[in-house]
Amino acid sequence: LVITGGIPLRGEVRVSGAKNSVLPILAGALLASEPVSLTNIPHLQDVTTMMSILGRLGVSLTVDERLGIELDARALTSCQAPYELVRTMRASILVLGPLLARMGKAEVSLPGGCAIGPRPVNLHVRGLEALGAEVRVEEGYIKASAPKGLKGARIFFDTVTVTGTENIMMAAVLAKGITVLENAAREPEVQDLAKFLNALGAQIEGAGTDTITITGVTALNKKAPQYRVLPDRIETATFLVAAAMTQGNIRVKDTQPELLSSVLKKLEEAGAHIECGDTWIHLDMQGRRVKAIDLKTAPFPGIATDIQAQLTALNAIAEGTGTIKETIFENRFMHVQELCRMGADISVTGNTAVCRGVPFLTAAPVMATDLRASACLVLAGLVAKGNTVIDRIYHLDRGYECIEEKLMQLGAIISRQINPSAQVRS
Ligand code: EPU
Repeated sequence: LVITGGIPLRGEVRVSGAKNSVLPILAGALLASEPVSLTNIPHLQDVTTMMSILGRLGVSLTVDERLGIELDARALTSCQAPYELVRTMRASILVLGPLLARMGKAEVSLPGGCAIGPRPVNLHVRGLEALGAEVRVEEGYIKASAPKGLKGARIFFDTVTVTGTENIMMAAVLAKGITVLENAAREPEVQDLAKFLNALGAQIEGAGTDTITITGVTALNKKAPQYRVLPDRIETATFLVAAAMTQGNIRVKDTQPELLSSVLKKLEEAGAHIECGDTWIHLDMQGRRVKAIDLKTAPFPGIATDIQAQLTALNAIAEGTGTIKETIFENRFMHVQELCRMGADISVTGNTAVCRGVPFLTAAPVMATDLRASACLVLAGLVAKGNTVIDRIYHLDRGYECIEEKLMQLGAIISRQINPSAQVRS
């Protein structure tokens, strides 16, 4: 991406369906014994990957032109999610629980290395074992089996895990008896998955709290109306931070403001004037420079780790010094080095970044390392002096639908070039 910085964002932008909702919901469709239909599906690389995995498992998929997908999982033909797909997306692990519940057997490749630190799946495995599955790791695959079916259990998660909660919740839907998940993730995406599964006939209560109770049913065979995926709160927040940094004035529509309370509070602390309706958020910086903010990432309803990199970019050009503490992942400060190459003054010690705001950033060729780090560099590019060239933006396409079109709609000068680094050098 090549971005010419310095233009305040103005106008209106639509938020897409949430990546972290649609991925578990697609995996959840494996549980359905009737065709299901989804809408508000974002056009993202991760969605394509999940669809490819489902296709390999025997799900037939039809995509329409209005952001909808129909899935028919009546006749599954395989229980193996292969390495070549799983290695490109860690969220592939989400098929483990539903596949095991539906087929009595599942083999999912271990996801492997990850740019945002070690991300084990021990809690997923332990949860399935508690439901009576036998789980082994062989030839790089997690191989789980439960030939006589799964049995409800009381499971306490040592750490709050989003996909862990989702995986075990999906497995428990078809287990015999009652499962209680304690210290469960409260993220809106967990709630969205539960709502979707309940529409198909599951009996899940308490999603959105830290205790989820699932009463097992024999099949998910209710014919449900088309299910609309939740709006993406991280995409929403990314646009709002972009507007704040560029001293802009934007309205983000088709979103859910109540999912963003903690971020909106921080943006107000940073000096933004914010107004919300049922489905929109209006942010106006009234031409002022942002003020530095202190924050700590936390599970929902705290500030999501997925918006930390973008808020680090905000602090980089803010007035004053802000401290950011990352409590969810180790090593999620890869973007800091790149920001410093653009003139930011940020030092990282352990899980804390101290950002001393500078008046401006200067364009430089930078490299994206993961999805949210890429978003952070786009934001930095929007305020930097000159033309910022961001390489490896395939990370961005995993989680942001049409990002350059949406930013252009808000007035940004941004374009995608086949080999931008080579062009700039020449
Ligand atoms: N953890 C364990 N063992 C486990 C599972 C997790 O120790 O078995 C630890 C992790 O290492 C981490 C913490 O628990 O330190 C929380 O990780 P979690 O399991 O909640 O992360 P995740 O489910 O793999 C989801 C999102 C991430 C988001 C995190 C945290 C999806 C598909 N992914 O990941 O999204 O950062 O929750 O909110 O829902 C992104 O969208 O860019 C992204 C990385």
